[in-house]
Amino acid sequence: MADIVLIGATGGVGSRLIPMLVRRGHSVTGLHRKPEQAEDLRAAGATPAQGDLMEMGADDFAAIIRGADAVVFSAGAAGSGAERTTKIDGEGPVKLIEAARATGVKRIYLVSVFPDAGRDRETSDGFEHYMREKKKADAALAGSDLDYVIVRPGTLKSEDGDGKVAAGRALTYGDVARGNVAAFIAELIDAPEIRKDIFELTDGDMPVDAAVAALRR
Ligand SMILES: NC(=O)c1ccc[n+]([C@@H]2O[C@H](COP(=O)([O-])OP(=O)(O)OC[C@H]3O[C@@H](n4cnc5c(N)ncnc54)[C@H](OP(=O)(O)O)[C@@H]3O)[C@@H](O)[C@H]2O)c1
Repeated sequence: MADIVLIGATGGVGSRLIPMLVRRGHSVTGLHRKPEQAEDLRAAGATPAQGDLMEMGADDFAAIIRGADAVVFSAGAAGSGAERTTKIDGEGPVKLIEAARATGVKRIYLVSVFPDAGRDRETSDGFEHYMREKKKADAALAGSDLDYVIVRPGTLKSEDGDGKVAAGRALTYGDVARGNVAAFIAELIDAPEIRKDIFELTDGDMPVDAAVAALRR
């Protein structure tokens, strides 16, 4: 059993991840920004911790993650503007890394984005900014001394998924159910020997446990 902190606990991936982690016997603390979300988190089996990523500094992250075995960052500004994207998708993970180093938390799982996202469609300043901020966060984590895993999903679908994925260090682009992303992260958390690595993820035909087992070096 591990103590897991989930940043983005109320999101499409995060809210599906909580019951998976609870079923595996882990204890989960979930960050939420609105007071009324606390009850839903409790009902799902998590301990709520309130905080707004637009305002949180490294000290605020430290207060929430202290003593945790692992932290999952699956928060995102979801296209709500450049400033929010910078603060949430870009600076959020950077502050988390600083907090992890200050508190001795070693393991971080970061939900990032597939580098091929947006190919074959017209781009926009907002999307390019999003991609740059995501990459900034990836680079900060990959350059840290933490035991990180960066997960780069394809286009997220609001579905629970069938538990079958394609996962690897380089894949062709595709969609992925938010539930499959959550299941992949839950499986990774129980395979702590997989660390300091970056995986692309789409829906596929391999059960999540077999897909994760195949990623061991
Ligand atoms: N959309 C795609 O196709 C796609 C593709 C690849 C990767 N991704 C990335 O995948 C990750 C997970 O996606 P998702 O669909 O689960 O995202 P989502 O449903 O939009 O959830 C985002 C989470 O971040 C939280 N959040 C946003 N602003 C916050 C703030 N100021 N303070 C605290 N929490 C805040 C949200 O809380 P609230 O409930 O309060 O809003 C929510 O829990 C994101 O990082 C996203 O960038 C997305």
